[in-house]
Amino acid sequence: MRKKVTVVGGGNVGATTAQRLVDSGLADVVLTDILEGVPTGKALDMLESAHISGSNVNAAGISTATGDYKEAANSDIVVITAGFPRKAGMSRDDLLKANYEVIKGVVEPITKLSPEAILITVTNPLDVMTQAAFKISGFPKNRVMGMAGVLDSARMAAFISMELNVSVENISCFVLGGHGDDMVPLPRYSTVAGIPLPDLLPKERVDAIVQRTRKGGGEIVNYLKTGSAYYAPSAAAFAMCEAILMDKRKIMPCAAYLEGEYGIKGLFVGVPCKLGARGIEQIIEIKLTNDEKAALEKSAASVRELVGILGL
Ligand code: NAI
Ligand code: 2OP
Repeated sequence: MRKKVTVVGGGNVGATTAQRLVDSGLADVVLTDILEGVPTGKALDMLESAHISGSNVNAAGISTATGDYKEAANSDIVVITAGFPRKAGMSRDDLLKANYEVIKGVVEPITKLSPEAILITVTNPLDVMTQAAFKISGFPKNRVMGMAGVLDSARMAAFISMELNVSVENISCFVLGGHGDDMVPLPRYSTVAGIPLPDLLPKERVDAIVQRTRKGGGEIVNYLKTGSAYYAPSAAAFAMCEAILMDKRKIMPCAAYLEGEYGIKGLFVGVPCKLGARGIEQIIEIKLTNDEKAALEKSAASVRELVGILGL
């Protein structure tokens, strides 16, 4: 039997993620949105592309304003992108309360219908919304995760590729911490053909890449004005789905619930995780310098502050 992925929120990130899933042929896809008609039309449009892409999967759309979630029952993965995106001048944290209301509204019904699903949150502020989804769903920690580190490290890889005029395929990057401006890109663990970045570039160029990575989301918002990035975010969400659906056991940075790892307890923060059929199968702890540890603690403190505001 084919796997099923439900994508909640049929806007820019959700619809593009759904389209990547349909194109891949890895799973049937259900797209849901509060808007009437839009998810149905987008899913039908994707289904009509299947003949061309040679993909034998089903795509269906549901408006949760008029219909219900039944079509989404027994999903293997639920990707949550419902909510509001960041507009120019807004921080991710400005979205906090509005998107918490959205998460409260969508997580309970969808997880009741798919009690064995793996949840991947995308909605911002990412780490806090993932904590909310964890609490509301009551799912075990291995089945709840947030997408951010895959995106942030892909951005860092793009900037290194541009700087060194080298293939992105040679580049491997790690970004830890919360998905905010104090995220923690790790140059020492970022390599080009296995060579650590600090061995290839002077410190000021490495620092510039770190800063651009931290502000990568805002850079796109400033160009788009009315919304935020979605091509790279959907590629990242798709890559996480693919690792789970294909039981790849691939190590990817994800927002994961920490219970003492990296000295952090009771909080979702981005760390390297092994992703496979059971979701987060392992959290990988890497050695950090004192400066890196302090930066991770600072980033975690920002997440904890927002978690505190919502009383999660
Ligand atoms: P968008 O505005 O294009 O789409 C959001 C969709 O959610 C809309 O279609 C809207 O109708 C729907 N929606 C709102 N309330 C809903 C509800 N109660 N039930 C079902 N659907 C509902 O926004 P976009 O660009 O797709 O971004 C979605 C979210 O993802 C935002 O919060 C954004 O900040 C976040 N994001 C996070 C990233 C990350 O790295 N974690 C990267 C990019 C975006
Ligand atoms: C991004 O990093 C807005 O969080 C979103 O593009």
